[in-house]
Amino acid sequence: MKPLPEEQRWVAQFIQWARHSPKYRALDLPETLLADIITHALKRYPKPPQALTAARRVLHQVVAPYLGDPDYAQAFRDLEAAARQGEEAVRQVCWNLLQQHASTRERLPFMEAFYRRLFEVTGVPDAVLDLACGLNPLSWPWMGLPREARYLAFDIHYPRVQLIRRFFALMGIEGQAFHQDILVEPPQDRAGVAFFFKEIHRFEERQPGCARPFLRAIPARWLLISLPTRSLSQKRDLLPIHRRLMNRILDGLDWEVQEILFENEVVFCVKKDER
Ligand SMILES: C[S@@+](CC[C@H](N)C(=O)[O-])C[C@H]1O[C@@H](n2cnc3c(N)ncnc32)[C@H](O)[C@@H]1O
Repeated sequence: MKPLPEEQRWVAQFIQWARHSPKYRALDLPETLLADIITHALKRYPKPPQALTAARRVLHQVVAPYLGDPDYAQAFRDLEAAARQGEEAVRQVCWNLLQQHASTRERLPFMEAFYRRLFEVTGVPDAVLDLACGLNPLSWPWMGLPREARYLAFDIHYPRVQLIRRFFALMGIEGQAFHQDILVEPPQDRAGVAFFFKEIHRFEERQPGCARPFLRAIPARWLLISLPTRSLSQKRDLLPIHRRLMNRILDGLDWEVQEILFENEVVFCVKKDER
């Protein structure tokens, strides 16, 4: 077998490391994600060992294991048992699961008002893209979407994607969940609304400057981009930093922007498309 060129050897080494690492192996992260992270690090750092260290740091931020996870095998069983009992039992299981990831846990106190206010701005959509969705599709019972609305969810974390697929099937929702790195492969399906909740700051950390072309590539009429207004510890006020970040990303674009402020989350409602 011909030896791999230098860069490809480091790419392969990083992918192998992530595939076997106790921290990531159960997540089955897409190869496109791993290859993209190490390739960018190799361009940035002249010494490959430095690039490997940097790539591990970036991957930790992208996967953000510190935000929390349910036990996915137990979650499948709970959802299936609840589905046999009826919708109220499913709502209860979803609520318990949403509590197990920081992004959705923080939204629970105002979840119904959250979607009501967003859809007052955009209108109730008949198709939604949930970009970097985490567990958020399990909030579907509180969204007020019509049952026939299409819901396309995207995440890199395979157990989450599988759980969401199971949930859509059990609930008879017109939904699909894709195991996909949306930065490398942005979705192609058109939708009225795209949710991009609490992730744009990590995209910019992963690849400075990537957010703007990424947003341009999303085929949705409305982009609903949210950011936390407090740090995880609740100690730091992040609102001024995150407003500046969004101003920088959207600067010079001819898009109408409305800001909606909730208790601990700010949503930038961006109207991309006049049609
Ligand atoms: C901070 S959580 C936010 C979850 C959800 N948007 C919410 O606010 O409830 C970020 C999620 O994005 C996923 N993610 C990160 N980078 C991604 C990418 N490039 N493509 C798809 N999913 C990604 C992570 O696996 C994680 O589930």
